[in-house]
Amino acid sequence: AAPEMIKIEKVGANQNVALIKLNRPKALNALCSQLMTELSSALQTLDADKQIGAIVITGSERAFAAGADIKEMTNNSFSQTFSGSFLSNWTDISKVTKPVIAAVNGFALGGGNELAMMCDIVYAGEKAQFGQPEVNIGTIPGAGGTQRWARTAGKSAAMEICLTGNRVTAQEAKDLGIVSKVYPVEQVVPEAIKLGEKIASQSPLIVQMAKEAVNKAFETTLQEGLHYERRLFHVTFATKDQKEGMTAFAEKRAPNWKSE
Ligand code: HXC
Repeated sequence: AAPEMIKIEKVGANQNVALIKLNRPKALNALCSQLMTELSSALQTLDADKQIGAIVITGSERAFAAGADIKEMTNNSFSQTFSGSFLSNWTDISKVTKPVIAAVNGFALGGGNELAMMCDIVYAGEKAQFGQPEVNIGTIPGAGGTQRWARTAGKSAAMEICLTGNRVTAQEAKDLGIVSKVYPVEQVVPEAIKLGEKIASQSPLIVQMAKEAVNKAFETTLQEGLHYERRLFHVTFATKDQKEGMTAFAEKRAPNWKSE
């Protein structure tokens, strides 16, 4: 069935970037289970689509996403959430092998901010606001908020965000390392697409290795991570794209990637 709560488009001069727009404007893109199921399934399809080299996720100018759907979960019982492992499918986003870019305008709150932090790169509009307001409604972040804030922004900032529910601006989020660039509101999505096109112009195989290597930094010790990186670097020498890339450099021409 066609998705109802997200819109999917192929964009960029070579149509090799996928743009997913969260589209539940009346509820400020609150992430109900239907929306999350549609998003997971779209990401899985796009990850397998050879035409696509990068994926951009955005919302509206008012809200990237205002969190998990509060009204939908209010009456969930403890046993239901626990035995059904409520929200465990949210991590599907971090299983995508292609680069995923969040283009954030407006509110990125609770699960909405966690969704942005699960992406590989976050661009924000000047008026974006980030926060983990769960504490205001008697719960705590459940899709990585406490962990990803702590690893990215450090303990003091993570505690402040998660214990007060206070929001930070786009510039503050950039200073804290959650966001890599801040743009005027209307430029965020075009800039994210441009970034996606730049990434999509590289060898998909090599980009996948680079993404996997960076992600390793969050999962292991420095020594293991460095070893993993060096081994993947060695692996690139088994690819045609490494030969092509280095030959093209010497021949002063653009490489013609094969993703092999
Ligand atoms: C359900 C939501 C919602 C949400 C907004 N809406 N956020 N519905 N779940 N998370 C709905 C409102 O009920 C309202 O519907 C409509 O969207 C517009 O919102 P308003 O509140 O009228 O807009 P505004 O006054 O501009 O305030 C914007 C806001 C506020 C500051 C973002 O909506 C807000 O505080 N939202 C909740 C933010 C939050 O607590 N998020 C964390 C959720 S918990 P009606 O029908 O009244 O027009 C969470 C847990 C994560 O994410 C666990 C892991 C995923």
